[in-house]
Amino acid sequence: MNIAILGFGTVGVGVYDLMKSRTDLCVKYVLDLREFPELGSLLTHDVNTILSDPDVDTVIEVMGGLHPSFEFVSAALNAGKHVVTANKYLISTYFRELTALATQNGVCLRCTAAAGGGIPWLVNLERAKRVDRITRLGGIMNGTTNFIMDAMQHRQMEFADALSQAQALGYAEADPSADIDGWDIQRKLAISANIAFDCLLRTEDIPCCGIRNITAEDVQMLATEGLSCRLLASGQRNEGSVSAYVEPTLLADGSPEAAVPSNFNLITFTGEAVGRLSFFGQGAGRYPTACNCVQDCVDIANGCGTFYSAAMKHVPVDNDAVSHAYYVRTAAPDGWLQHLTRRKMGSGVITEPVSVRAMHEWLQQALLRDPGCFIAGLL
Ligand SMILES: NC(=O)c1ccc[n+]([C@@H]2O[C@H](COP(=O)([O-])OP(=O)(O)OC[C@H]3O[C@@H](n4cnc5c(N)ncnc54)[C@H](OP(=O)(O)O)[C@@H]3O)[C@@H](O)[C@H]2O)c1
Repeated sequence: MNIAILGFGTVGVGVYDLMKSRTDLCVKYVLDLREFPELGSLLTHDVNTILSDPDVDTVIEVMGGLHPSFEFVSAALNAGKHVVTANKYLISTYFRELTALATQNGVCLRCTAAAGGGIPWLVNLERAKRVDRITRLGGIMNGTTNFIMDAMQHRQMEFADALSQAQALGYAEADPSADIDGWDIQRKLAISANIAFDCLLRTEDIPCCGIRNITAEDVQMLATEGLSCRLLASGQRNEGSVSAYVEPTLLADGSPEAAVPSNFNLITFTGEAVGRLSFFGQGAGRYPTACNCVQDCVDIANGCGTFYSAAMKHVPVDNDAVSHAYYVRTAAPDGWLQHLTRRKMGSGVITEPVSVRAMHEWLQQALLRDPGCFIAGLL
């Protein structure tokens, strides 16, 4: 298989290194904006060199972002080339368009690294689906936020210090919004739900609350109650709809997610027949992520095509179908919250069970009155 790598950054270099010693996968081009003298004649700055070369079977897109990744990937599919990508932003935004293009052109589109980094999560969702009906999925899908929550809980760090440390270690970007505001998880949840439930969710349909507003005081108080906070994705199949949301979640000490250390991920699905299956590992990083990109190439070479099905259809997101209690801390409680309050806890309150839809809609208004308002689901 002759391969072109688009983007010679963190993941692209990892893919290149892993392919060096292989005889079945041959890197024919690397596209990047910068110069890399060590790549010699492999380096190109012109995507058309790759698109017009009939010897290139497979394009690995690891540039990131939406544009020009969307244009390059679309052109590669239209040129009859298989595509492997780690780009969750691209796949979650253009899932419908890109899967349709791959089908029309009779080529494969695989994105195992886009949800779970180095964890073989999407491939095992697909495997499970062949013989089972998946009813739920979710868990810790972002290592940066888990690192921050773990550091705040076990090393008594303030949020800002834990974030700075995550940035210094290369776990968080200079602009950490996609991680701490939950958008990274929202994208991974959309891709996972689409594959597990044969649906076409849009990221904007998935309500998302991150950890930006959690304080050291919240974390220490929750610990005295035997609770750990983690940022979780949740997806559930309902009759004719899907529930999907991202929110900080309070877990009893002893639960598997509460024990996940540092920047690891723990992602779980439940099948009617197989029961609960969890996947623990590195959700990011050069070589873990590159491993899944290379695995996708090997799968394509072995005749395993795509992992979405022709049965995908639009289904509504219905977060009224899920209710639970919440911890809410706000300096501006209103009548709705007071009516729902079951008891005080620390500087906040524990509510009666309330639908996820109602709480996330309330939160949008509450943040206008109190930008420091924090909520966490209580399982
Ligand atoms: N890093 C991880 O651990 C990880 C894990 C899972 C998934 N992913 C996904 O993998 C993708 C790549 O991530 P990364 O961390 O490897 O990013 P990165 O380190 O920023 O690398 C991207 C590379 O692509 C190049 N590039 C950007 N736009 C380009 C263009 N128009 N033409 C040619 N080259 C271009 C960049 O060049 P410049 O530097 O000159 O801009 C850079 O060398 C992203 O979609 C990310 O979400 C990453």
